[in-house]
Amino acid sequence: MRTQVAIVGGGPAGLLLSRLLHRQGIASVVLEGRDRAYVEHRQRAGMLEQGTTDVLRGCGAGERLDREGLVHHGLELRFGGAGHRIPLTDLTGRTVTVYAQTEIVKDLVALRLADGGDVRFGARAVEIDPSGPSVTYRQDGRTHTLDCDYIAGCDGFHGVGRPAVPGVRTFSREYPFAWLGILADVPPSTGELIYAHHDRGFALHSLRSPAVSRLYLQVAPDEEIAAWPDARIWDELAVRLGTGDGWTLDEGPITDRSITPMRSFVAEPMRHDRLFLAGDAAHIVPPTGAKGLNLAVSDVTVLARALTERYASGSEALLDSYSATCLRRVWRAEHFSYWMTTLLHTDPQADDFARRLQRSHLDYVASSPAAAVSLAENYTGLPLT
Ligand code: APR
Ligand code: PHB
Repeated sequence: MRTQVAIVGGGPAGLLLSRLLHRQGIASVVLEGRDRAYVEHRQRAGMLEQGTTDVLRGCGAGERLDREGLVHHGLELRFGGAGHRIPLTDLTGRTVTVYAQTEIVKDLVALRLADGGDVRFGARAVEIDPSGPSVTYRQDGRTHTLDCDYIAGCDGFHGVGRPAVPGVRTFSREYPFAWLGILADVPPSTGELIYAHHDRGFALHSLRSPAVSRLYLQVAPDEEIAAWPDARIWDELAVRLGTGDGWTLDEGPITDRSITPMRSFVAEPMRHDRLFLAGDAAHIVPPTGAKGLNLAVSDVTVLARALTERYASGSEALLDSYSATCLRRVWRAEHFSYWMTTLLHTDPQADDFARRLQRSHLDYVASSPAAAVSLAENYTGLPLT
């Protein structure tokens, strides 16, 4: 079996790449280890930069996004019992859109299958040969080999793509906390996202639709979900999000809950020979800046352009600059995500000096137009270069 581009991983990175290539007449096969239902129901973040919605719309994946996505023009920083709005659109001219990653995955799977795309579920890659190039995978208890011109390693943090880059250098940072995330059937108690800093820890009020709220609490990295019955979650959210002006948090049935560790991670380079890494396979950001999905989209946009040029003209110039082009954006997002994380979370090891500095930093971001512009331009996303 042979194709032009073998794509390992059917998360947002792999599926979108397959769609972008199809629009340019380039054939691909997506190998996804899990089944379709699993991939379509994994709860992840859902804040899209304008550049991300432009890419989705541009490749014909914007229909439901335009109908159901919630366009936002600002966010709120909340600390010391008071809210401070950051008017993202006034400051940058750009918007952000709330639309869950799982919905993007559903839209892309449906599109690929409708246009005859080859997406294989339950197909787990076991070995990648970046120079063959080929991918060996297991499906239905049998071993198969897929030969190709290029391989896209879109197989997430635990995949086989990154280990196939010889001499790969990694950079990482662990944080002394994790996020407990819930989905609840209750109308959001806010129109815009609220990022709250509190002595007891960070909290985030996000949303999924006019009827569904998404909320997060900073917890210890080794926290057991069993220690968090519904009442404790709601009580803690109400305390951390509380203000002095009578704002209240509405509660509802919790339909999904999980604890996610926080990590920063970058692998360099993002290419070896004919293997190209994209998305979580190459980098992880803590979710505070909402950059994970947006980075995956910018990686595959750059890769699709490079492959398009290669097949159209034979030039490998854009393939050769792929890793450096992506890493510039990746490191900017890494810094921003680290910055938002340390700005807003409560470090259990911080001493009084560090806490005073953090409070001063929060006051500065909330009161200085220059600091607010910096937050806003990073949050809404810098232009794709
Ligand atoms: N063979 C085939 N598929 C694999 C293999 C393998 N050996 N290993 C992993 N996979 C699949 C996983 O099952 C998953 O569906 O690769 C996919 C990787 O998808 P994601 O983890 O969603 O990563 P990515 O597509 O890069 O999307 C990045 O996901 O984790 C979030 O915050 C992150 O929003 C960002 C987005
Ligand atoms: C989410 O809605 O899941 C979400 C939003 C913003 C973030 C992280 C997660 O920073």
